[in-house]
Amino acid sequence: MTEERIPPATLPLAARAPGKCILFGEHAIVHGKPELVIAIDLHTQVIIRGAPATRLNGDPEAIRSNPYFRTALEKAWSAGPPVDVRAVSRIPRAAGLGSSAAFVAATAAGFTASAGGGERSDLAQLAFTIERTAQGVGSPGDTAAAVAGGCITLNAEAGRLLWSVQDEQRSWTVRRLEDPGWIWVVAYSGVPRDTAETVRSVGRRLAQPDGPELLERFATVALDGIRAVVKEDRTDVGELMKRNQELLREVGVSHPRLEAMLDAVGPVSLGAKLTGAGAGGSLVVLPHPGREMEAARKIARVGGVAYVVRVATEGAALVPEGAPASTASGG
Ligand code: PMV
Repeated sequence: MTEERIPPATLPLAARAPGKCILFGEHAIVHGKPELVIAIDLHTQVIIRGAPATRLNGDPEAIRSNPYFRTALEKAWSAGPPVDVRAVSRIPRAAGLGSSAAFVAATAAGFTASAGGGERSDLAQLAFTIERTAQGVGSPGDTAAAVAGGCITLNAEAGRLLWSVQDEQRSWTVRRLEDPGWIWVVAYSGVPRDTAETVRSVGRRLAQPDGPELLERFATVALDGIRAVVKEDRTDVGELMKRNQELLREVGVSHPRLEAMLDAVGPVSLGAKLTGAGAGGSLVVLPHPGREMEAARKIARVGGVAYVVRVATEGAALVPEGAPASTASGG
């Protein structure tokens, strides 16, 4: 169970946060529409120690070259002493599975604990501000899932209100749904993508005359999807994932590698779609119960890297130093 507060701790300390995948509503969320995100049990863990000079994984240059680390230091550790940060992760990078948000959330949780602890809602805002500043575009879906864990909705009425997160223009409400306890497969295509560039290209597509109508279709699918998860109706969730994928194709963010993986898992899944920015990146698959490993093997056969995952119920948290980075099984 995720605690409301990040407790105080002294250095050295270890913290971790989960990756995520978006079940419904990526891209439309950037334009204020609803989204459903699940935290997945692939984690990033950081160990933070006092040190003569600040470094990330032994690299002192990272305070300039790594925008996430640089911004985390600026926003959450400006008065702190030099630190040696070691990060290990099971989440593939630039894959749409929330690796940067998990790194930011774990690091910010560690800094918060070392500065005397704090409210989880403040950590959610802090993690979003860091990721947004480093990345330049985007919504708080990834960081909300990394901080809260579990099943999270943004801009929807369903679920228990956790908090709101703001930027200069917009506010997003974040709510928690019950996890239906299903097993998912996420699969990286091996094609890295640039979230910022993809968000801009979808923005241009949505600026066309039929853009508002298209956006409403994204919103309807996401709200229906959220209702289907609340009802724990796997069949409906699968169908709505397929419909969401059609919309994502329509705005131009699918990719031949993703389509090959979708074809491969079709016979063993209730539904599947790209997750995250697309144009490469990853799929999320809802396999028929009991056919998870088969789905993972079929994806591997067409060149994808599959992970069989559950929802990570716990969000960003301190961990005893040396605990394993993840409990998920690779496929
Ligand atoms: O960075 P990714 O691949 O997890 O994409 C995030 C999802 C988008 O809706 C495309 C952007 C955003 O920040 O919400």
